Amino acid sequence: MRSLLLAILFSSLLPVRTLAQSPATLIVDTAKPKAKVSPTLYGIMTEEINYSYDGGLYAELVSNRTFQTNRGLNLEHWTLIQNGNSKADIAIDKTTGPSTAIPHSLLFTVKSAGAKTEAGFYNNGFWGMGLRPSTTYRGSFYGKADSHEIGAMTIRLVNDKTGAVVASTVVPALGNTWTRYEFTLRTGAIAPSTDNHLEFLVQHAGTAWFSLISLFPPTYKNEPLGKRIDLMEKLAALHPAFLRFPGGNYLEGDHINERYEWKKTIGPLIDRPTHPTPWTYRSSDGIGLLEFLTWCEDLHMEPLLAVYSGFSLRQEHIEAGKDLEPYVQDALDEIEYVTGNVSTRWGGERAKDGHPEPFPLKFVEVGNEEYHDESGTYDARFAQFYKAIKERYPDLQIVATAPVTSVRPDILDDNDHTLHTHFYRTAQQFFTDVHRYDSFSRNGPKILVGEWATREGSPTTNLGAALGDAAWMTGLERNSDIVVMASYAPLFVNVNVGGMQWPSDLIGYDALNSYGSPSYYAQVMFSTHLGDEILNSKLDTTNPRLFNSATYDSKTHRLHLKLVNAASVPQSIEIKLTGAAHVRNKATVTTLSGRTTLETNSISDPTHIVPVVSSIVNAGAKFAHTVPKYAVQVLDIDLD
Ligand code: AHR
Repeated sequence: MRSLLLAILFSSLLPVRTLAQSPATLIVDTAKPKAKVSPTLYGIMTEEINYSYDGGLYAELVSNRTFQTNRGLNLEHWTLIQNGNSKADIAIDKTTGPSTAIPHSLLFTVKSAGAKTEAGFYNNGFWGMGLRPSTTYRGSFYGKADSHEIGAMTIRLVNDKTGAVVASTVVPALGNTWTRYEFTLRTGAIAPSTDNHLEFLVQHAGTAWFSLISLFPPTYKNEPLGKRIDLMEKLAALHPAFLRFPGGNYLEGDHINERYEWKKTIGPLIDRPTHPTPWTYRSSDGIGLLEFLTWCEDLHMEPLLAVYSGFSLRQEHIEAGKDLEPYVQDALDEIEYVTGNVSTRWGGERAKDGHPEPFPLKFVEVGNEEYHDESGTYDARFAQFYKAIKERYPDLQIVATAPVTSVRPDILDDNDHTLHTHFYRTAQQFFTDVHRYDSFSRNGPKILVGEWATREGSPTTNLGAALGDAAWMTGLERNSDIVVMASYAPLFVNVNVGGMQWPSDLIGYDALNSYGSPSYYAQVMFSTHLGDEILNSKLDTTNPRLFNSATYDSKTHRLHLKLVNAASVPQSIEIKLTGAAHVRNKATVTTLSGRTTLETNSISDPTHIVPVVSSIVNAGAKFAHTVPKYAVQVLDIDLD
């Protein structure tokens, strides 16, 4: 008993020690590259989910601008204003609209109103409207009135909390036929805020109709009706090599008649009918096919165009053969719209839409996650698309979204066969599957990892997820001779309550601000330190959470050594670089790390976990290095 007490006493007096992993060794052969790094390795995947475009990338401030949601025609987001004793009403009018695509409108009936008792309606935006000081906002609407009596219309941006008018303008009395009106609103010295709404007000009785009411802030590259600057800049920093669009479930739709019909997403907005999506809300299609393509152009991304394959999510499908022909033709037309010169039917249409230059296109994917098709018809449907596309466009690389046997696809969009989905996993699942592609057959199709993400943390992922992602990326990179493309998903989430359909996303935002998750920064680190040659490396360790990859940039003679230590203690590594004539001692180290795996970024703390750049001076052909706990590191070492 006495000895037990002494043992307890002594052990409690022992200094607290940080547990350390036993040292690992890493040998990198810099002399002979294993293969070329795929120049299209890191891309992004996008679709309308989590208010990615409406209420996200698409800079439109007005919500439900054509008065229809997934629940049908309605005035959600629009509210009547009756100041003082004014009397008015707003309703949907199904009998008149500005176009065949939008055959209905908002009917505004004013029984009485005056200079101090205005009547009107307002729109509350996408969880508010983000406004900045000294900024011009460009607006437009289609409208008509039964007579001039209703008079001029005052349009105002008003702060929700203070009632202060932050910008105002007047549009003269409307005519009696559908006409497009434009206006501008300029803010003064206001504090940036999301708490704003847009008001339309009159001072006289009368009747008027409205549709496609729109308001845009300044956009990326000043593109009219364009994209949000902050989000485009965040994407640009990822240096994505390609964009996989338009989905995802969004491509397929719940039902065949709710699929992504690209022909209904092009041309003037007034000719786009909008469409229901599987993600609970209706798409305005403001980001239509052309806008996806200009997005690629702006960020120098290869388009990876997914075409509808004849299968929708609720198990509706089109049989291969005659019935499928119109869908195949639709895909051929779509490819012509993207790549055809102006003398072709659809290339000419693209020119009319303002882009005479054809877009480069190398990759076409047929469908999405077709292993969900219980009818087993994908093989035959894919073959029909494959043959028709190859016949006209032999150089296009065609991607299958499930294994097929009747023809050999150029690329297979791989999936997690156990989970029966794309690679949506826990960090641990990625750690244990890091070597997935090391022994993959090099004789089959090349691999696209079309959707992948560590799903830890919400609405955006945390540091633990970034560690899972980074570990997985070491495996992709080491095998990028076969894994030619990989795209994280989903990309975006509007973090307001109700904005998210898919917890665990890369970039979060509200109506004004945005931030990248730790996973975002892990990707920035990998994609901006990629190089063009894969080097052989051998890691010897007892730490099951230590991962690495090594690539080399043959132009700059720089070695990019990625080290991921997902363990809770630091990891020392003896690093040996063989085959280099000269290794510089000074190296740059970029580190993403934290104290716990739950640490994360958020709209109120957007840069809590970000990469930190430092340098070491002990690099060389052989050197000791310690990777902190819970860390992703890139060592840039010059070999010359
Ligand atoms: O990324 C979210 C969804 O996950 C995609 O729409 C679908 O392809 C996958 O199941």
